[in-house]
Amino acid sequence: MTVTTGPAAVRTGDTAEVLAQLLEYLAPVPPRLSMPPKAFTDPGLYELERERIFHRSWVLVGHADQFASPGDYTALDIAGEAVLVARGRDGALHATSPVCRHRLMPLVAAGQGNAKDLTCPYHLWRYEVDGRLIAATHMRGNPDFDPASCRLPGFAVEEWHGFVYVNLDPGARPLAPELSVVEKEMANYRLDDMVQVTSWTEEWHCNWKVAVENGHENYHAIGFHPETVKPLMTGGIDMQVHYDSPVVSRLLSPAGNPVPPTVLPLTEDEQKVLYSFRVFPCGSVATFGETIAWLSLVPAALDRTVVRGGTLMPRQIVEQAGPENLRGPLEEFTARVNTEDRTGLEAVQRGVGSRYARRGHLSPKEPGVLAFYRSLAEGLRD
Ligand code: FES
Ligand SMILES: [Fe+2]
Repeated sequence: MTVTTGPAAVRTGDTAEVLAQLLEYLAPVPPRLSMPPKAFTDPGLYELERERIFHRSWVLVGHADQFASPGDYTALDIAGEAVLVARGRDGALHATSPVCRHRLMPLVAAGQGNAKDLTCPYHLWRYEVDGRLIAATHMRGNPDFDPASCRLPGFAVEEWHGFVYVNLDPGARPLAPELSVVEKEMANYRLDDMVQVTSWTEEWHCNWKVAVENGHENYHAIGFHPETVKPLMTGGIDMQVHYDSPVVSRLLSPAGNPVPPTVLPLTEDEQKVLYSFRVFPCGSVATFGETIAWLSLVPAALDRTVVRGGTLMPRQIVEQAGPENLRGPLEEFTARVNTEDRTGLEAVQRGVGSRYARRGHLSPKEPGVLAFYRSLAEGLRD
């Protein structure tokens, strides 16, 4: 059956079948099986994900340090929708659709930078980074055109203790109340006084869920990361999962032999866990002692995922050590781990496309994966 774009045209037999299988994860006793292979390859399901998940969920896009000055921006693609996040002259963060209102020329390429304003390359209309039109060339002769009411459509944007989230639904419910438990549990990490030391963007050739499910378990440290992550997991690969809501889950792993903190007032109990929380669909924040890492896995297409991440450390440590001394080792470690994940997950993407691919059985070591499946099913439910 052919699949064309648009929500009405996507319900092929495959899509309906895979959707029904995913909804089974909402049962009181969910199947302890991995997702059907078609969940990673079916174009109809991807259309549903765009419509029901990525057009109305909070997507982690970066850290406030990337938006320190007016004009600082990140331009990205969220499941096929161009998005510009920028610090305006008013000091506030704005998220807009950076597509010119004249004849739909994209105003900015994906990436980061600083812009005084946005000039359309086509006929040179100019916009503020917050979306307001500054000037439109040669338009006075058209009495129907009202420059005052012409502006780039806006999206919802929220900063939670430095982490910047965007929601394409401008009327989305705020994110912060969802994170109230995390807020309390992370108080001693003093997120507001953390500095971003490194950040990166990569593209992986796999479906976003191949990457996100991998990020919900430590089990794969033994296979993908024997010399990098595994030696750090001195407490083992088990994890405790708290499923707070379809939006937020918390994953706690034993920290093994904790190194006492130098700056943060972490309790003994806090030193004994690696704490992380996920904001569905694709954002995570995790602690490693006094270092915090964030990761966001955003689909660019059915089989391509843009991976963004960063590492933060307490300002006092960064100032004492000098950011340039911290950056090198952190970048090197991250690049190694990312390459291990990317190489492995791109191979998995080839595996899910096999005609002999079937659902597999999940290990008790991967309860986080089931939590993700449950959120996914909630998001896909009509
Ligand atoms: S398309 Fe932007 S000015 Fe014409
Ligand atoms: Fe990994």
